[in-house]
Amino acid sequence: MKIIILAGGGGTRLFPLSRTCLPKQFLKLGEEQSLLAQTVKRFMPLVKPSDMVVVTNQAYYHHVQAELAACGASGAHILLEPVARNTAPAIALAARFCLDELGAPSDEVLFITPSDHIIHPVDQFIRNVRQAAELAKQDKIVTFGIKPDKPETGYGYIQAGQPFGAGYQVACFREKPDKDTAEAYLAAGNYYWNSGMFAFTVGCMLEELRVHQPEIYQIASAVFPEVINNFAAMPSISIDYAVAEKSTRVVTVPMTAYWNDIGSWDAIYDVLEKDSSGNAIKGDCLPVDCVNTLMLGRNRLIAGIGLEDVLVVETDDVIVVAKRGESQKVKDVVNELKSRG
Ligand code: GDD
Ligand code: MG
Repeated sequence: MKIIILAGGGGTRLFPLSRTCLPKQFLKLGEEQSLLAQTVKRFMPLVKPSDMVVVTNQAYYHHVQAELAACGASGAHILLEPVARNTAPAIALAARFCLDELGAPSDEVLFITPSDHIIHPVDQFIRNVRQAAELAKQDKIVTFGIKPDKPETGYGYIQAGQPFGAGYQVACFREKPDKDTAEAYLAAGNYYWNSGMFAFTVGCMLEELRVHQPEIYQIASAVFPEVINNFAAMPSISIDYAVAEKSTRVVTVPMTAYWNDIGSWDAIYDVLEKDSSGNAIKGDCLPVDCVNTLMLGRNRLIAGIGLEDVLVVETDDVIVVAKRGESQKVKDVVNELKSRG
């Protein structure tokens, strides 16, 4: 099995801490190691570093190299995309790299993982990965299903069908539905969130790309490194829209380990330890009569008085103050800043 770690996203949902120049996968978020290093370490009981491939782009190369060294995995491969084309082309490129450069056979299982999630405990997770790998060997595209507890619109939704091995066949996969649809899925009870991790054999993925994404397949048919030369001509599309929504071979394994993609400041508040008043505090902060607040300070003292359900994040040049439950709208701030140039 090869572990393919996707680390080329430029996510800005945790602005002002995450920026295009330092996206979420490189943040430590109160831990000793970055989310990328934590991701790499999670797979160390399963494979050696030389069986891991971190897919990223030139801009993040040095960050990736430093994080691999920090977690004792300098032997992992770093595969550079010439331009970012989202996850379907990144995965097609990784499949090609495994076949041509690592000598993987076409029935080798690839386990695809984002690099910016929190997952524990590791032994439980490894059990789930082994279950997924077993199903992948039967020419399935395996997803991990997370039991949803709110109508989150930033995730893919998986409708569980007939039981299949340790999981279910997928009756329907729907990426990022609108709020009404997400609410209907939640009420129906037989839907899972997609975790963003996938397992399949190299041959199975190339076949699905041939059927559903001929433009990607055609370029990915050239051997490595020729495929790199034409990479920019691939359409920019995520694996969720490109394959998971279309393939009839998708199955899902309900994930039993804890999973959080910490896609917002609200999610950070949820995962951090709280004091007896429900405040999650990092850095130099002074809460007076505050309840259920998040305060993340870096340089300056944050003093809060009488705050309730408020998020405060302080960095060198930006301070964000938000109401709890509203932090998804950080993207509106980022868009406004981008439009100002
Ligand atoms: N190499 C590379 N190149 N990596 C990329 C690229 C790219 O062009 N674009 C994104 N990534 C990486 C990100 O760094 C992240 O680790 C992972 O791929 C997933 O991309 P996101 O942009 O974070 O996807 P998402 O969160 O919107 O949606 C996915 O994850 C959800 C769960 O967190 C989907 O799989 C959803 O269905 C899923 O629910
Ligand atoms: Mg994500």
